[in-house]
Order: sequence, then structure tokens, then C-alpha cells
Amino acid sequence: MNTNLLSKHLVERKYLSEIIYFEELYSTNAYSKKVYNELDDNTIVITSYQTNGTGRFGRPWKTNRNENLTFSLIKHSALRIDEIHLMNFYTSYILYMALNEISAEYKGHDLYLKWPNDLLLNRKKIAGILLDVKDMNSEMKKFIIGIGLNVNQEMFPEDIISKATSMKNEFKCDFVIEEILINFIKLFYGNLQLLNQGEVLMNLWKSKSDVTGKKVKFKQLDDGREAEVIIIDIDNDGGLIVSDKSGKRFKFYSGEISILYDE
Ligand code: BTN
Repeated sequence: MNTNLLSKHLVERKYLSEIIYFEELYSTNAYSKKVYNELDDNTIVITSYQTNGTGRFGRPWKTNRNENLTFSLIKHSALRIDEIHLMNFYTSYILYMALNEISAEYKGHDLYLKWPNDLLLNRKKIAGILLDVKDMNSEMKKFIIGIGLNVNQEMFPEDIISKATSMKNEFKCDFVIEEILINFIKLFYGNLQLLNQGEVLMNLWKSKSDVTGKKVKFKQLDDGREAEVIIIDIDNDGGLIVSDKSGKRFKFYSGEISILYDE
């Protein structure tokens, strides 16, 4: 990782206060959670290899050494408790914008946001976000925004090969990981006003997601129940509004959807 390049663009230009780099680390989120009291606002903890990366619902997030972007951004924010979901939607929207600039250059690729905060490129997952919040009950909350973006990895384990992809696999060339991070951070800090405009943000997010009206498999991960439902909308509070076969509506704040494609 070229930390000099990162510092030049992100610390010297005052986007970030600090970049903490580890060649190898168990998990940038777990580490940040442990030492969050010592980390300044606008710090990133980044590594070239996580030995114990985690995803949502405690699932592993395993990626190859030196080939991907795995980092956590520490962001303090005065969002209210009922607005916390906005940080999730904001982060995935900004990641979408960063990737879309690249995707547009290569043409003919489908990039979409998938509720609650995944990015799909050509129907496969290319990035995931794991958000932890500390000091939840104080006015100034400390967000640990963990991002995993598959950049130059070509081989994926058998169990996820049909569901996961990388920029290299789809765009057919190598990318400079540092450049992608620099662009993401600039977009993140350049659009922060959206966090104070919940409805605008949610509408923007929805405009980049193509699930409304689609039939999906919805899984509630606390009890493992699964059901086929139709997505009606995503509410401004981040909830997923679905209807079942009988037309009855439900709203979920947590869970996972798999889009049931026709072909
Ligand atoms: C998901 O889609 O389940 C979320 C994946 C989040 C992975 C990132 S990689 C950097 C940060 N550190 C972790 O251990 N997880 C997040």
C-alpha cells in the first residue's frame, strides 16, 4: 500500500486526520472498535490483508492479500438515534458514485445498490459495508464504517464464486487500490450535507437501486426464516417494505434479500 500517496492526497489536503496502516490485521472494524477512544475523528484504519475480516451477521469476509480495499473510516456525527441508518445508506451511495464513475468508462455494466448496503456489479456482490456505532447515547456518535471492496482479486472460494466478483473480473483490467480509496474519500467528504437531508438521500439511494417491484427471497437472519416476497419500497427510515403472496405488507429493518432473476 502506498501510504505516502494516500497521505499526500488525503491528510495533507485535510480530508483525513490520520491514516493508520497495517500490512496485516485481524479486522479493521474489530481493531477500530477496540481502540476507538484513541482514534481521532476522520481517521482511517487500513490493511492489505485481514486475517479475520467480518461481514454482516458475523459472517467471514475473506479476501486475498494485497488485492482489495479493506478499511474502516472513523466518523463522528451528531445524527440522532432514529437517523443512524442514514450513515449506512450514505456510505453505500457514495461507494456507488465512486464505482459508477469507473463503470461508466467501461460501458455495458450494471451497477446497483442492494438493500440494505451492498453493491452489485453485473448481479454479483462487489462490496460490503459493516457499520458499528460507539457512544450511541451521546450526542456525538462515533461511527466505524467498515468497507470491503473487491478490486483486483480474480479467484474466489468455491462457496461464493457464483455470488462474488471484483472490479478486475468485470472490467478486465487491474486497478490502483489507492486511487479508488482517494476518490471515495473525496466524494464522502464532498457530499456530507446529504446526511442532513434524509429524504433526498433516500431518494437518491433508491434511484440507484433496481429492486422495487422485484420478486426476492427475503431471509431474516435472526431466525433463518425465508420467504418469497415482492419489494414495494424502501422507507425513509431505511425499512424494507414488502408484500407477501396474499398481498399483506411487512416492514423489515434487518435481513438479506436475494433477487430472483428470471433468466
Ligand atoms: C458485508 O457485506 O457483510 C459487510 C462486509 C464488510 C467487510 C469490511 S472489510 C473492512 C472492515 N473490517 C471488517 O472486518 N469488515 C469490514
